[in-house]
Amino acid sequence: MRPHSRSHYCGEITAANIGETVEITGWVHRRRDHGGVIFLDVRDRTGVVQLVYDPDTEQSFAIADRVRNEFVLHATGRVRARPEGAVNPDMATGEIEVLGSDLTILNASATPPFQLDEYSDAGEDVRMRFRYLDLRRPEMLARLAFRSRAASEVRRFLEGEGFWEIETPTLTKTTPEGARDYLVPSRTHPGQFFALPQSPQLFKQLLMMAGADRYYQIARCYRDEDLRADRQPEFTQIDIEASFVSEREVMDIGERMVRTLFQNLLDVNLPEFPVLSYHDAMSRFGSDAPDLRNPLELVGIDDLVADVAFKVFAGPAQDPGGRVVALRGPGAATRLSRRELDDYAGFVARYGAGGLAYIKVNDRSQGLDGLQSPILKFLGIDVAEAILDRVGAVDGDIVFFGADRAKVVHDAMGAFRDELGRVLDLVEDCWAPLWVVDFPMFEETEHGGGLTPAHHPFTQPAGTPEEVRANPAAALAHAYDFVLNGVEIGGGSLRIHDSAMQEAVFDALSMGQEAEVKFGFLLDALRHGCPPHGGIAFGFDRLVMSLLGTDAIRDVIAFPKTQSAACLMTSAPSPVDEHQLRDLHIRVR
Ligand code: AMO
Ligand code: AMP
Repeated sequence: MRPHSRSHYCGEITAANIGETVEITGWVHRRRDHGGVIFLDVRDRTGVVQLVYDPDTEQSFAIADRVRNEFVLHATGRVRARPEGAVNPDMATGEIEVLGSDLTILNASATPPFQLDEYSDAGEDVRMRFRYLDLRRPEMLARLAFRSRAASEVRRFLEGEGFWEIETPTLTKTTPEGARDYLVPSRTHPGQFFALPQSPQLFKQLLMMAGADRYYQIARCYRDEDLRADRQPEFTQIDIEASFVSEREVMDIGERMVRTLFQNLLDVNLPEFPVLSYHDAMSRFGSDAPDLRNPLELVGIDDLVADVAFKVFAGPAQDPGGRVVALRGPGAATRLSRRELDDYAGFVARYGAGGLAYIKVNDRSQGLDGLQSPILKFLGIDVAEAILDRVGAVDGDIVFFGADRAKVVHDAMGAFRDELGRVLDLVEDCWAPLWVVDFPMFEETEHGGGLTPAHHPFTQPAGTPEEVRANPAAALAHAYDFVLNGVEIGGGSLRIHDSAMQEAVFDALSMGQEAEVKFGFLLDALRHGCPPHGGIAFGFDRLVMSLLGTDAIRDVIAFPKTQSAACLMTSAPSPVDEHQLRDLHIRVR
């Protein structure tokens, strides 16, 4: 008997094996001593099987008596049916048990810092520090297995569509996607640095220029940005690029891929993917990644309140950069307390809103007397009625208002729409995919006074280079985002394939000289026969999160970083030796 020979995985032994002698290996999930008999639940990546040792097998029984949780074992025994009453329908192997004959301890284990065999309320820090133990939990291993299957589905699909998997460098130059770069100092070029790619964007475009025609890569990307529940400093993209394609063709490839994943992994046939313009998404939902499972919509009322005495509304209504919206909360009057309504003013304040006015509709037939609101006296009954008509308010509703600069209204009321949908139980249990298109090409920089690319500077704007130069702020982009249940899962665009347009865009970004230094190689390449091309990248981690129904990106990454972008297990990042720094020509300030 070799200590690692194995006839079956633990989770795969069934009633069909009754009477057979099996050899298994794995970890002690749980040990129970029933005075006279010892039960060992032994676990491997497929599941758990129950072993029974009785005192007849003296030597093995003595060993079974010594083992503790997480010891590593090799065991031999005969499969038998569990006695009636001991059958466990919650366990895949619940009909059988293995009557152990031999038992070898392959390795002992220190007492684990947290329990793996039941609901563990161990803090995130401990779980991250002992991530290999955390991963042993069956639900975590199941997620890794699922992710692996998802990756092979992606590969199979894209290979079937004629895409080649091509690796691109990770020691490279900056590839701007709007975050800070992770830099790697060069030893051989003192004072110079590589950047880790924020995406393979430039290389995939250069591959199109090389004639590769259809490229994909399950690619690691690095972005030094503030982390959130669905962001990691290193993450994985399903990165795709194709030549001689239209916007719709790229979207179709992405759509078919996502459909195939849902079909093959979840047996879900996704509904149609509606296409929404950025403008409509913002004005109706206050977000460029709206959750369409939520039926609530923002309704513009600028025209109705432009002349009211209430300056909070009239001001933004008259300002071209301002907006006033109403949001109907069906049945909210009975569902929300006064106190909750007050708290929501604090909720929208976090997004910069000055307040959250509302009208409570008690009885519309009573006119003014049937309505309750701190702002009614400023609006007058006619305007109030016109607003209620427009949003379709009925008795029992509360209509909420946001009035401010459009951005503040969208941020605050978009977030409040999510919140209200949730508290009123209006969010349907379904899948709501969509495409958002017609993004603006540029956005104002945060501090004003300049433009940044809304997507990235290689995106093809609509129009000619002259039009872009003349009015960059108005330019739309041939860009598209894929959104699922309110999460941006993927984004892409047609690319500039003409150096005059690329220069116009760099100029609009005031990057003239800088662009030549940073991206001269791209401008050169554009002058050497560049095919029209476009592509998309899906956040693979986010896609797997959606498929698995988890909202923590750490659940789908084997070794994730913490909120402060550190690895608690390896203690990375960490200081380095003085001589290493000297080799790299670096002095730490
Ligand atoms: P974009 O920056 O939109 O596009 O990224 C594409 C997708 O990658 C995922 N993603 C992330 N996932 C986890 N953690 C992060 N920090 C993170 N950042 C982004 C998102 C996002 O939709 N080169 C372009 C694609 C293209 O134009 O083809 C790009 O990177 O799901
Ligand atoms: P005030 O006159 O400032 O007390 O505001 C009257 C009502 O309007 C209160 O219910 C405020 O919460 C609300 N309010 C104030 N500013 C805004 C705003 N920018 N958008 C929507 N409601 C607001």
